[in-house]
Amino acid sequence: MRDQMTSQNFISQKREGCTKIRKSQAFPLCQSGMKEGFGSVLTAMLILSGPALVFAASGNNTFTPTNIFAPLSTPARAIYQNASLVLIICAAIFLVVGGLLVATVIRFRRRPEHENLEPPQVYGSNQIELAWTVIPILIVLVITLATTRTIYDVQGALPPPGTVNVTVVGHQWWWKIRYPDLGIVTANELHVPVTESGKRRPTYLRLESADVVHSFWVPQLAGKTDVVPNRRNLMWIEPTQPGTFVGNCAEYCGLQHARMLIRVIVHPPGDFEKWVAAQQAAPVDNPQLQAGRKLFFSTSCINCHAINGTKANGQFGPDLKHLMSRETLGAGVVPNTADNLRAWVRDPQRIKPGALMPNMQLTDGELNQMVTYLSSLK
Ligand code: CUA
Repeated sequence: MRDQMTSQNFISQKREGCTKIRKSQAFPLCQSGMKEGFGSVLTAMLILSGPALVFAASGNNTFTPTNIFAPLSTPARAIYQNASLVLIICAAIFLVVGGLLVATVIRFRRRPEHENLEPPQVYGSNQIELAWTVIPILIVLVITLATTRTIYDVQGALPPPGTVNVTVVGHQWWWKIRYPDLGIVTANELHVPVTESGKRRPTYLRLESADVVHSFWVPQLAGKTDVVPNRRNLMWIEPTQPGTFVGNCAEYCGLQHARMLIRVIVHPPGDFEKWVAAQQAAPVDNPQLQAGRKLFFSTSCINCHAINGTKANGQFGPDLKHLMSRETLGAGVVPNTADNLRAWVRDPQRIKPGALMPNMQLTDGELNQMVTYLSSLK
């Protein structure tokens, strides 16, 4: 009973307050104060959103090697253009809504002369309701159409002649990279040709997983694509500038997810063919390396590692045929130097805890032989 009374009293008070405030000077006062408040609010909003806009507009590669605002590949550029459109529209919405919100909070804040008054209660304005229905629909329509066109451009593109085909297989926590047309198997470093004006050389990637879900992402070259077990996802890159581009697995996949790095080495014209020839060549079989070679083939190394063209054909770990041609060890964890290779073979767990390669418990003498042999795999 008491609650009902309170509720009824509240409604009647509300109506009363409504009338009172209409009679008061509240409305004109607010309108006159709007102008000065809005200028300072706009300045504050620009300061807030400034760094993001400057960063987006600069496209400066030096900010970070994974800068999504510096696309250097055809699909990455298409995604960047679409993302920029969405960013600009959202920034405009942010400025308008945020500006109005802050201006309202400042201008209509509680003041002593407004004690016991309520603001006017506005019900059912057709103009306002039309505006906040139609404008968002138009904005969403523009974004949808632009995004659909980008998706079609990126996902529907057919491989032109001269395309390089690569199969990338995500493993915990490294990438196997196969060139089925060229008979090359490598790991963690994807070598591709550059596209010159008039001569397109895109690389089409088939993405597979050997265990859990990973995600292949090299921000400057393309959007990210999930790598899912029992599924084959497709993506492509078409770099327009030679250089090394870095990326990372972008889907949490276990302990060393953060150290599942990918490098894409984009070769200048003519250089990719040289790399292909070097990878296709058999590793040098130096008689002085017999001890290390024998050790490698007599331990369980060959259960996991392959050396293409020998009886070592393990598929669980990276192919070592041209191990020394790679820049890093452990999928980008450390540079591939003599000291790091030795430390890695001695105990991979010290460099990459949780890595699926165990400590082989080699003696110092065996370690020397093994590292000497591995160092010959150029
Ligand atoms: Cu693979 Cu995260």
